[in-house]
Amino acid sequence: MFGLFKKKKPLPTFAPLVTDMHCHLLPLVDDGSKSLEESLEVMEAMKETGFEQIRLTPHFAYPRFPNDVEDIKMRYKNFCEEVEANKGSRNLPRMMSVTGEFRIDDGFQKYVDNNQLLTYRFNNPKRGSEKGLLLIEFSLSQKRMGLEDIVFERQMDGYDIILAHPERYPYFGSHSTLLEQFKEQGIYFQSNILSLDGFYGEEAQRKAYEYIENGWVEFLGTDMHNTLYAQALRHASMNKKIIKLLETTEFENKNLVTE
Ligand SMILES: [Fe+2]
Repeated sequence: MFGLFKKKKPLPTFAPLVTDMHCHLLPLVDDGSKSLEESLEVMEAMKETGFEQIRLTPHFAYPRFPNDVEDIKMRYKNFCEEVEANKGSRNLPRMMSVTGEFRIDDGFQKYVDNNQLLTYRFNNPKRGSEKGLLLIEFSLSQKRMGLEDIVFERQMDGYDIILAHPERYPYFGSHSTLLEQFKEQGIYFQSNILSLDGFYGEEAQRKAYEYIENGWVEFLGTDMHNTLYAQALRHASMNKKIIKLLETTEFENKNLVTE
């Protein structure tokens, strides 16, 4: 009888992924975590739900978050020291690296010109990656003119591109020819775990499943920002459909190289 009143415990559903490759837990650099304590709380939720390792991907987006690459690297170093100091008393995932989520906007070209695109590496048995994986996102409100040219130019430069949360752009439907073209050109897609649990609404949820069914999605990410997202991640870890998906579908997160 008492069992009826027990709070459900989150499950290590995401253990097969091993690594989360998209989160905003470097404090005070974007719309993510606002303090070390908040980051640690979110990281505990990530560990509880099965993640062993995480990569931080602060926004590089103009004009809201015109982050400086050197400043981000320095903050990351300090953050790692603080996390290390808390390891004895808290159950935390391992930090792997800081890269970024680069928005294709008016500030993007500056990072290209200054050779400041932060990337991560990936053991891909099918093809090598010269300059590593570059996580990009688009505007959530309207499609930028010439978007595809900017993406393909970076590919020609030798970057492998991962498009963050394709299901979240309202201008891409279920049968988007541009998304199809991206897949033909070898662009990777990363869907958000919380999309699968309805966190961003029904349309994003439906498209996330459709894109996965199409075989378009190679990576899953948490896109964690704060403790509200952490609560949602715990909720998602108990979603039967998500549990089944993780049991039956292979994602590439585990092939990201530890640095
Ligand atoms: Fe993000």
